[in-house]
Amino acid sequence: MRKNIVAGNWKMNNDLSQTETLLTSLKKQKQTSNAEVMVAPTFTNLWHAFEALRESNVEVVAQNMHFAENGAYTGEISASMLKSVGVQTVILGHSERRAYFNETDELLAKKVDAALTNSMRIIFCFGEELADRKGNNHENVVASQIKNALFHLDAAAFKNIVLAYEPVWAIGTGETASPEQAQDMHAFIRKTLADKYGNDVAQSVSILYGGSVKPANAKEIFSKPDVDGGLIGGAALKAEDFYAIVNAF
Ligand code: 13P
Repeated sequence: MRKNIVAGNWKMNNDLSQTETLLTSLKKQKQTSNAEVMVAPTFTNLWHAFEALRESNVEVVAQNMHFAENGAYTGEISASMLKSVGVQTVILGHSERRAYFNETDELLAKKVDAALTNSMRIIFCFGEELADRKGNNHENVVASQIKNALFHLDAAAFKNIVLAYEPVWAIGTGETASPEQAQDMHAFIRKTLADKYGNDVAQSVSILYGGSVKPANAKEIFSKPDVDGGLIGGAALKAEDFYAIVNAF
């Protein structure tokens, strides 16, 4: 059976001392669900977080990486650098990377390949903008984001891929996709996978929802059959709220 996962994407928040404070309160929380729990601090705090959470069941993941192994790419971070500080999983394709840093499907396909070559797990993000939703083009947009970045892979690669549907209009806006909208899209994503790779692969891939998930709405969203967890932004910055979401299964 596929796993339930709750991952906190801290984005560009928390310096070292704020990270220490949040890690300390995360370690005090009680988990009552069976979800896999992950947090994604900024690059400079990955090693510190890895050390602090070593004895816990919280995995430390990265928010991004470059596709090259090493070389003249000033300011970038490679897969092997991430692995050297204990990171085994990377978020790729977040809409903020696509929108503000011009990350294209073509670039993301290269990052996906680099992560898999380095035996890393990927949380691959995608999602439509408000205009796509209003124009009833959201399924086409999502299908093309998935196909362009992932459909060159073989079926076995999907053991190391988690998908995260994050409608851009619901990120940081307080506006959540309704549980029905999330379920409809997740079912569509699973069908898109099944059409290409077969039902076994489609049923085995965890699909997370992201966009204004909070303690108050998590339970209803997670109760939908094709929603396997959440990628959490703002609410992941408070340990109590984050664990209320982790325990919403
Ligand atoms: P919010 O939960 O703040 O809407 O952010 C969602 C997100 O972008 C997680 O990657």
